[in-house]
Amino acid sequence: MKILVIGSGGREHALVWKISQSPLVKKIYCAPGNAGISEIAENVNIESTDITGLVEFAIKNSIDFTVVGPELPLTLGIVNEFEKRGLKIFGPSKEAAEIEGSKVFAKYMMKKYKIPTAKYESFNSQKDAKDYVSKIGVPVVIKADGLAAGKGVIICNTIEEAVKAIDSIMVGKVFGSAGNKVIIEEYLKGEEASFMVFSDGEDILPIASAQDHKQIYDGDRGLNTGGMGAYSPAPVITEKLSREILDTVIKPLISGMKKEGKTYKGILYAGLMIVNDSPFVLEFNCRFGDPETQPILMRMKSDIVPVLMSVVEGRLKGKEIQWSNEPSVCVVMAAGGYPDKYEKGKEIKGLDEAKKIENLVVFHAGTSKINVKVVTNGGRVLGVTSLGTNFEDAINRAYKGVSLIKWDGAYYRRDIGKKAIPISRKSLDI
Ligand code: AMP
Ligand code: GLY
Repeated sequence: MKILVIGSGGREHALVWKISQSPLVKKIYCAPGNAGISEIAENVNIESTDITGLVEFAIKNSIDFTVVGPELPLTLGIVNEFEKRGLKIFGPSKEAAEIEGSKVFAKYMMKKYKIPTAKYESFNSQKDAKDYVSKIGVPVVIKADGLAAGKGVIICNTIEEAVKAIDSIMVGKVFGSAGNKVIIEEYLKGEEASFMVFSDGEDILPIASAQDHKQIYDGDRGLNTGGMGAYSPAPVITEKLSREILDTVIKPLISGMKKEGKTYKGILYAGLMIVNDSPFVLEFNCRFGDPETQPILMRMKSDIVPVLMSVVEGRLKGKEIQWSNEPSVCVVMAAGGYPDKYEKGKEIKGLDEAKKIENLVVFHAGTSKINVKVVTNGGRVLGVTSLGTNFEDAINRAYKGVSLIKWDGAYYRRDIGKKAIPISRKSLDI
């Protein structure tokens, strides 16, 4: 088979890496890819949002199967366009991808299908939004309605902060048109976890759990980012909780989407806050999480290609995935300054030395090649991902890799995975 993967992040490198291990696959293209991906696939210089260009490429190169990484092409309708031309593609339709594309729609679905989530209201008017904040008080969470690369959420501890956040989203348009509407919701205190399932529209197949580290600084402080590191499994998600998440969150959403005429095929990602052992949905995403996919795919023993195909072909029922019992940890190395302004084009050294470490893969995100040099080309640059006999071993191994890799201004958190240690001894279920 010839496979096309769309995207250029750590998630796509992990997908290409896993797909390349399948005996079913002869050739992999990645559009647009990055420096790491170019070592195992052929990069194609087409942006992930150039849907016409991607359709033409797939037809011209007789692509058998396409896998979409990021949310933007999905919300723009890439799956609809490929399917119109009879091309097989993994991911939800434009209509189904709205579950991530519009937080207002996601909240509407949660309310209608009784899925536990934070209490909220949505607003078109900044005055009404501010009045509501004064009424309910702080702490409070202000969210831009549309896509904002994981950054459109502001947690406010004072009324002044909340007023400033509403102004910057609705008037200053810091997230562009994503801020035409805002959601204001109650602040939930608990432990976060990511729960993903494959769905073919009818049946579902859960994948290993994971936990992200959203904030930029150690101890979960500072601005939210796309994710500074992740580990799998997430010990907070016990087997019992996993069943509860399936029954109260995943199944009602998948059957609700069908009832709404938006049948959901692809990966469904629920970002959860676990409050007193009960799950509350913070967000749904219409794609694999990043960086979560990096440690998760390190643990996946089964061939991923038949699973992806059975989702598209509606044959998920009865499918199983084998997981390694060994935990995995991914430490994201970012450009200094991220998630605010940062520089690109810094030469990265030490990649070859890090590669020699056993059970460690350096997934690339924002990297590119200039002649033989690998340089930084984005905010999140690398995902140094390891598998270990236990969490301590996986953490040490990942940080050993990190210590060998250098560039001017490299930044990473030093506490990735630590949260997993005390609980992991009690339960390592998924
Ligand atoms: P979202 O993009 O909606 O997942 O929000 C991004 C991040 O903001 C989440 O991963 C949480 O860390 C935080 N967050 C979002 N909603 C809430 C909430 N209601 N209570 C507490 N934290 C939240
Ligand atoms: N790591 C969070 C996300 O993929 O949305």
